Amino acid sequence: MAKYVLGIETSCDETSMAIVDGQHLVAHITASQIQQHQRFGGVFPELASRLHTEQISLIFTETLSQAGLKVTDLSAVAVTRGPGLIGALHIGLQAAKIIAAFYQIPLLAVHHHAAHLEAIRFTTPIVYPAIGLIVSGGHTQLVYLPKPLVYELLGQTQDDAVGESYDKVSRMLGLGYPGGPILERLALTGQPHYRLPSPVTQSPFDFSFSGLKTAVAQLIRQETSEGKTMQHSNLAFAFQKVIIDTLVEKTIAAAKRYSVQHILVGGGVALNQSLRKQLTAASVAQGMTVDFPLPWACTDNAAMIALLGSSLLAQQRTVDLDIGVDPNWSLSDFNPK
Ligand code: KG4
Ligand code: ZN
Repeated sequence: MAKYVLGIETSCDETSMAIVDGQHLVAHITASQIQQHQRFGGVFPELASRLHTEQISLIFTETLSQAGLKVTDLSAVAVTRGPGLIGALHIGLQAAKIIAAFYQIPLLAVHHHAAHLEAIRFTTPIVYPAIGLIVSGGHTQLVYLPKPLVYELLGQTQDDAVGESYDKVSRMLGLGYPGGPILERLALTGQPHYRLPSPVTQSPFDFSFSGLKTAVAQLIRQETSEGKTMQHSNLAFAFQKVIIDTLVEKTIAAAKRYSVQHILVGGGVALNQSLRKQLTAASVAQGMTVDFPLPWACTDNAAMIALLGSSLLAQQRTVDLDIGVDPNWSLSDFNPK
């Protein structure tokens, strides 16, 4: 019998709902707020909460209609509990609680980062043990997955996330938001003209990108003061090279250390073609396999929340209605006790 699980995602700037039946995606609607945040050069938290509030009931109705289902057909509701923007998370959790309470169906609390890694399951099964790389606007993490639904954080960024670095450098150059696709496109025509420093971290699986951002700012200042015309494409090329070399090197090192064959990537930066090519080549050279989600499943979406929620439901990992959001929810607290 079908078990329809509704997923709700409102942790950042997408209001998204989806319905899955096991691993089958039945409906999926996302309202992106990117355009409204563009003039701020990044996500403006209060505005995000307000737009989620405006959109959420409409998206619920549309998602059910796209699925051709009634609310009473739902078996459970899964929602992003964290990490994310506190106000934005609240809107999704309140909606989920109302649906769960009113229709007396189980509530499932989903970890946003774990869901980014599970998104790959829409296209391919995960071969355990695996290494996951999460690269988004808010996070950069390396995760070890010893078995299904268990996540061990190996390292994370000590300052800026990868996507955030793209966004900040793009803003410095006056090029707009989100910076990732803009700088990636520019880097395609860039030449190896500038040299930027590779980040140094104490732990091999941690990341640090704020020094790189500062080096870019210094380079811009220096070139400007010397009256030189800065080629944005060359700067984008140098910046992206450091980022991708770092991500690839650390991910392969983690996969070797934990003797895994399967690498998964999730998050908005997983859309980057240079990252895809370079990490695939490095994995193949090591006899490993790397998989990236379909483009729509890389960025924030409720389909991945519903998918992981469906697995939690199968393990009866439901939560009580008095649960709150956790903007800094750690992966270890999401693991089964
Ligand atoms: O996962 P996501 O949609 O939202 C967060 O949870 O943060 O990721 C958005 C981030 C932005 O910082 C954006 O600049 C970056 O992903 N991004 C990219 C690319 N497309 C989006 N970064 C590098 N290359 C891209 N092609
Ligand atoms: Zn995300």
